[in-house]
Amino acid sequence: MSERYCVFGHPISHSRSPWIHAAFADQCGMTIDYTAIEAPLDDFAGTWRSFIATGGIGANVTVPFKEEAFRLADASSARAQRAGAVNTLLLTDEGTTYGDTTDGVGLVRDLEQHDVMLTGARVLILGAGGAVRGILEPLLDAHPASVFIANRTAVKAAALARDFRDLGGVEGGGFNDIRATYDVVINGTSASLAGDLPPLRDDLFTSGATAYDMMYGAEPTVFLAWAQKRGAHPVDGLGMLVEQAAESYYLWRGERPDTTRVLEALRFKLVHG
Ligand code: ATR
Repeated sequence: MSERYCVFGHPISHSRSPWIHAAFADQCGMTIDYTAIEAPLDDFAGTWRSFIATGGIGANVTVPFKEEAFRLADASSARAQRAGAVNTLLLTDEGTTYGDTTDGVGLVRDLEQHDVMLTGARVLILGAGGAVRGILEPLLDAHPASVFIANRTAVKAAALARDFRDLGGVEGGGFNDIRATYDVVINGTSASLAGDLPPLRDDLFTSGATAYDMMYGAEPTVFLAWAQKRGAHPVDGLGMLVEQAAESYYLWRGERPDTTRVLEALRFKLVHG
């Protein structure tokens, strides 16, 4: 019988995770049973319990359940504890639930795939919500020269920076507090979803800078189109999606899939339907 995994979210029908994980399994010469499950908003824990009662051994978790999944896990990784969120659940041999978060590693790996050097770079992060909290530890572990978190609500960025200050030079403030130029600018706001652009200075980028949007779509996001016009190299978050999935796959199965081919095929699907 195939090993049983799923992704939980609400809504979930748009999820590309079943396709990505089927492609990973195919590469490894096996089939897995990986489905998308829409958990009810008021019973995530019950849905996980039913899943494992029917043979499930691992799951990805997406919006809006990542924090609840963290609270549900009997134990979790240090990076998940920092993030206060979990995107990967694993049923242990002892029958307990282990939680981890692979989003930040996914972002860092995708930047590496694009030859973007984080070590020594000046990094600007836009947004201070759960998505940004989830990437900060792996990002700071790469030893950038500095990180500034800018957010519409400045106090949230300042508080988030304080929570991670022990890991390196990280400051926070409002969009108006952005003073310097940056080698890497990461958009972690949900503004792209609404087609909005945070209010940013035109001269934000150093020469050869990278603009990264954690969102993706068939067309460049508003932020990436804006950044490209100002000389930055644009990268969207499709690679992060594939890389975080690969890290989850590794946690479950101990094998690292080749992400390049899967990302190429997914890009083709996204653009051509
Ligand atoms: P997520 O889990 O995606 O991070 P979130 O925790 O709700 O979701 O955070 C959304 C982030 O996008 C926040 O940083 C939010 O700014 P505020 O903290 O000021 O709300 C930011 N955001 C959402 N819409 C935005 C917009 N139109 N312009 C700028 N920032 C926006």
